[in-house]
Amino acid sequence: MTKKIKWGIIGPGKIANKFAADLVISKDSVLYGVASRDLDKAKAFGEKYGATNCYSSYEQLAEDPEIDVIYIATPHVFHYENTMMCLKKGKAVLCEKPMGINSDQVEEMLQEAAKQKVFLMEAIWTRFIPATEKMLALLEQNAIGEVLFVHADFGFKGDGNLESRLLNKKLGGGSLLDIGIYPIYLSLLVLGIPTDIKAMARMTTTEVDSYCSMLFNYSNDSKAILESTIEAKTPTEACIYGSEGTIKLHSRFHHANKITLTQNGVEEVFDIDYKGNGYFHEIEEVNNCLRQGLTQSSKLPFTLSLDLIKLIDRVKNEIGLEY
Ligand SMILES: NC(=O)c1ccc[n+]([C@@H]2O[C@H](COP(=O)([O-])OP(=O)(O)OC[C@H]3O[C@@H](n4cnc5c(N)ncnc54)[C@H](OP(=O)(O)O)[C@@H]3O)[C@@H](O)[C@H]2O)c1
Repeated sequence: MTKKIKWGIIGPGKIANKFAADLVISKDSVLYGVASRDLDKAKAFGEKYGATNCYSSYEQLAEDPEIDVIYIATPHVFHYENTMMCLKKGKAVLCEKPMGINSDQVEEMLQEAAKQKVFLMEAIWTRFIPATEKMLALLEQNAIGEVLFVHADFGFKGDGNLESRLLNKKLGGGSLLDIGIYPIYLSLLVLGIPTDIKAMARMTTTEVDSYCSMLFNYSNDSKAILESTIEAKTPTEACIYGSEGTIKLHSRFHHANKITLTQNGVEEVFDIDYKGNGYFHEIEEVNNCLRQGLTQSSKLPFTLSLDLIKLIDRVKNEIGLEY
């Protein structure tokens, strides 16, 4: 029998809990270890998800020769430092989004992975959600003709805690990096890199964006109208409008389980479930890449993560957001 892929987790917070629950249902994976700055927290997390090895430092976990791949689930501003540390120790990494807080960081991270010849991927789980695959297949089949424009929004009401990672500038706060990345990613997947970007934001007293509205223009005259906010719950849907029809990714579009295709006024609904919390699919992708000895995923290659952060940098520049 093939040995299971042994995973380690750094930063057992909210998202790490959801991710670990999906590791448990992945037959090809085992949660081998977890590292927290607080050993008791690591032990409690380990007990919940069956990880027997707990560490009070991130370095200790990265130095464990048994571990095949490390999932980085710390706040955005630590992704660079945590990932670089793991890569330099020769460990494969799945790093939460955004991979870094600017393109310089991401470029260095990708270069380090290439130098060490180890696997690295940004945890954009959306790419591996079955509904996203269906959307791509419909576009490939030319089901809606030429794409004219894309609409996508992502909004929820944050708790207003100025110290939280959502609002704290030192932790990379703001809607753009946290959730604006999803509409931007969708636009990149569907339309590529825009020629022009216009963006407007509302800034908080902590000098991060609580609302960001973006308009992208492409060389073929297509458009993307994108929005992110932590001020209010918004539909969090995405629609791709084409010359011959429309594809709607139902809420929440970044892990949709329903797609509606409209052609000539006739609707066809596809119910497409994802497994577990939806992270299962990115876990399987990482495992498959590791088994094949790959250093990057062809579905979410280095170039895509770099293009994505470069786009985010352009939006940051438009709205005057600096970290
Ligand atoms: N893919 C998704 O669906 C999704 C959803 C939510 C968030 N995320 C991403 O996941 C990352 C973490 O988000 P989260 O909501 O899980 O955050 P969180 O609940 O605050 O957890 C972050 C963890 O990072 C560690 N950490 C290290 N240094 C820290 C510091 N100075 N301040 C706070 N925490 C620190 C903490 O673990 P220890 O103290 O135990 O070491 C903490 O548990 C973010 O980059 C976010 O973009 C992704």
